[in-house]
Amino acid sequence: MFDRIIALCRAGFEKECAAELQSHANAAGFAAYVKTETGSGLVQLVASTRQPADSLFEQIRFHDLIFCRQWFASGELLTGLPDKNRLQPLLEHIKPFGLHFQDVELAWPDTNEGKAISKFCKQFRPHLLASLKKHRLLSAQAGQRLHILFLDSQTAFVGYARSANSNPQAMGIMRLKMPAEAPSRSTLKLEEALHWFISQENERQYIKAGMRAVDLGAAPGGWSWQLIKRGMLVTAIDNGALDEGLMKSGMVEHIQADAFKWMPDKPVDWLVCDMVERPLLVSRMISRWFTRRMCQYSIFNLKLPMSQRYQSVMECLSYIHHTLSDAGIAFELRARQLYHDREEITVFLRRLHPGELDDNPGE
Ligand SMILES: C[S@@+](CC[C@H](N)C(=O)[O-])C[C@H]1O[C@@H](n2cnc3c(N)ncnc32)[C@H](O)[C@@H]1O
Repeated sequence: MFDRIIALCRAGFEKECAAELQSHANAAGFAAYVKTETGSGLVQLVASTRQPADSLFEQIRFHDLIFCRQWFASGELLTGLPDKNRLQPLLEHIKPFGLHFQDVELAWPDTNEGKAISKFCKQFRPHLLASLKKHRLLSAQAGQRLHILFLDSQTAFVGYARSANSNPQAMGIMRLKMPAEAPSRSTLKLEEALHWFISQENERQYIKAGMRAVDLGAAPGGWSWQLIKRGMLVTAIDNGALDEGLMKSGMVEHIQADAFKWMPDKPVDWLVCDMVERPLLVSRMISRWFTRRMCQYSIFNLKLPMSQRYQSVMECLSYIHHTLSDAGIAFELRARQLYHDREEITVFLRRLHPGELDDNPGE
């Protein structure tokens, strides 16, 4: 019934998303091949045998995926949905799943063509919900969400995802409002990263007023702004000018120096870095801060090269992993291409506290 996983990704990153899914499927011993088209924002991982694709939900943690924004298990593309009554054939397709749903996600590929379907989805949603309710297919206790990805108003992939092992944000997109006082749009990247990587449960421990942070490549200051907003005191390293309003806060010290050479006299809590530099150079520098135990938490961007992007990401993560492991440091390493990221990914690295169990050993 579910012979494939449908994955949504940033348009243009289908190859990376496909390589990542294929590699996880191989590691899980799941025989599958990928189908995708450049620019579609969509990847299919299709089972080569009769093994159900949703068995992968037990073996791959969604949070470990970097390029996949959202995923669900589906069968073949459903075509020819009539304009006049789509509900009937959809329900006939959904009922044999034998599942109840906590919620419904109607989606479209995040492309210009895809956006044209968004209006239709918004209008269709209340009718679908009413119909699912009437057929007793909705239940607040169900552990899964119904997914329908429309390619156009007559064609859709239909399936489900486990609520606990998928993205709670519709289509994997975290919409954030640009704060009027922030010095740059880049601020949204750090805000999204903090929401994505740090659970509400951990937030009180990882982010505290009075913590010390270093922002490498800080100008004009959008990332520093997020940190001072949370009560941290920031040392901002950049030869460029910082936003006046940010400096007036009195919580930012600006040092004009080369971020690859500068180090503080004593350890800080946070290190963030958003420089357009070769990803391996950034990975080496961040690793150095950790092996010298100069910070506890870090969020940094890795700008991706024009080609071999997936390989480059793997090389960087593996470098960090091996360098910290060899130095006897226990850590949590996670990476993701955030909605606000462009030709880059964002990485979260955290030194574990003594005695803390490492349940996420990174790459
Ligand atoms: C993308 S911008 C940072 C934007 C910033 N995160 C924000 O939210 O406003 C990159 C910054 O890195 C700085 N930069 C690049 N290489 C640097 C280096 N070696 N040392 C210090 N700053 C550097 C640049 O001057 C530039 O201001």
